[in-house]
Amino acid sequence: MDISGTTCVYGLIGDPVAHSISPLIHNALAQELGLDLAYVCFPVKGTKVDEAIRGAYALGISGLNVTVPHKQAALSCVQELDPVAKAVGAVNTLVRRDGQDGFKGYNTDVEGFIRETRQDSIPLTGSRAVVLGAGGAARAVCFALAKEGAVRIVIVNRTKEKAQELAGAVNAFAGRELAYILPLEDVQDTDRLLSLAGGAYLAVQTTSVGLFPHTEKTLIRDAAFFRQAVAGIDIIYNPDETQFMKECRAAGKPAFNGLAMLLYQGIASFELWTGKQVPDTAARQVYAMMKEEMARRREADNTDPGRRLI
Ligand code: ATR
Repeated sequence: MDISGTTCVYGLIGDPVAHSISPLIHNALAQELGLDLAYVCFPVKGTKVDEAIRGAYALGISGLNVTVPHKQAALSCVQELDPVAKAVGAVNTLVRRDGQDGFKGYNTDVEGFIRETRQDSIPLTGSRAVVLGAGGAARAVCFALAKEGAVRIVIVNRTKEKAQELAGAVNAFAGRELAYILPLEDVQDTDRLLSLAGGAYLAVQTTSVGLFPHTEKTLIRDAAFFRQAVAGIDIIYNPDETQFMKECRAAGKPAFNGLAMLLYQGIASFELWTGKQVPDTAARQVYAMMKEEMARRREADNTDPGRRLI
């Protein structure tokens, strides 16, 4: 990489950020597309988010990703907000607005899920989905499903109030009764689940259960749950194959991890920043590099917490 006086600087703000794989994604994309940009990580504490974003604008930083725990705080630090990011209630991408004294905020986690499912030939339009979890990652997944025209979403979460709040927000966005909730303790009742979903469903695991190093953990082991699914997606990418994915495959259903969603949210940010479209060949190349990097980290000491969507 040749860094010069004209190199555009992009970066990630969050806490922590040291383990992020986003620098690999964006610097590799820049190389693939022959663009003069560099992407670095900025650890930013919670009390400094507004200051950091204003400072980044003043420094001429071209764009930022925002990760945990600042995705909500960043909402109030932008000049302009994309309607999807507004509905989701979280921002993960800031695009510089020259002459407007600030950034425009987007949420490309939503687009990341849409593109990943497209890549894996999982149709979302007209689909039924069961989403495990009601945190930030679940929000992105649910709004992606709503945006793409899913016909039913069942949100299964340990804390009922969070599921209720998310279902309400999704229904308000969709303008119809799209999302329903099922308490986690009732998920064993697979007949009820199937009738709530209204048919075979895409199962999306968005909780942190099963993350390295607790790789043997999963919220659901019931084979009947997976037999009723069309496919399973676990948005965790460390380990490579989670227990949830193992159970899904054991029931004969395809299962995918979260690495492609991570790539595609990055690609969506990169395209917003640069105005260039990333060709499939470049996406495949960078995906291979990400897989290699994750394998290398696992080989080394595997201290990467493998958090989702960074
Ligand atoms: P993120 O923004 O990465 O999605 P989060 O907002 O902290 O993270 O959400 C984590 C999700 O995992 C939540 O749905 C959480 O359930 P609660 O809403 O009940 O807290 C879920 N989760 C985490 N640990 C869990 C556990 N041991 N059992 C069940 N659900 C769990």
